[in-house]
Amino acid sequence: MKKIILIHGPNLNLLGKRDIKHYGNLTLAVLENIVKKEAKKLRISVIAFQSNYEGALIDFLQKHRHIDGIIINPGALTHYSYALHDALLDTNLPVVEVHLSNILKREKWRLLSVTAAACKKVISGKKIDGYLEALYYLNKLFYD
Ligand code: DQA
Repeated sequence: MKKIILIHGPNLNLLGKRDIKHYGNLTLAVLENIVKKEAKKLRISVIAFQSNYEGALIDFLQKHRHIDGIIINPGALTHYSYALHDALLDTNLPVVEVHLSNILKREKWRLLSVTAAACKKVISGKKIDGYLEALYYLNKLFYD
C-alpha cells in the first residue's frame, strides 16, 4: 500500500462557497473524499490536510517525509511562497501541483508558479479531474 498526502493551502477550506466559475461547486470535504475513494481502488492511502497558514503547511510537510508522494494545491501561495517551494523540494518526494482553475488564463500575477519548480507536474484548470489525473500520474510513477 502506497501512502500520499493531499494538501490544500489558503482559502481552499471555503471551496463550494468560492467563485464557482473558477473553482467548481464541490466542498473541500467532498473533493477529498472523491480523491480518497479513487486512491483506494489503486491501493493508495491518502492523508488530507488544509491550512490557511504557510508555516502549518511546511510543518506538515516536514512531519510526513516517509511517504510516497504529494498532491498539493497551494492556493495563492503558489505565486509567491519560496518557503513552500523549498519545503516541497526538501521532501525529495514526487509532487504534483494541482489548480482547480486555469491559472494561465486569469490575472497576470497568477501566471507565475514559484512552487512548480519543486514539482514533477502541474495540472491546471481541470477542476476535480485534475486531482484524479495527479493520482494516476503518481500511481504510474510508483510502479514504472
Ligand atoms: C488556485 C489558484 C490560485 O491562484 C488561487 O489563489 C487559489 C486557488 C486554484 O485551485 O485554481 O486559491 O490554486
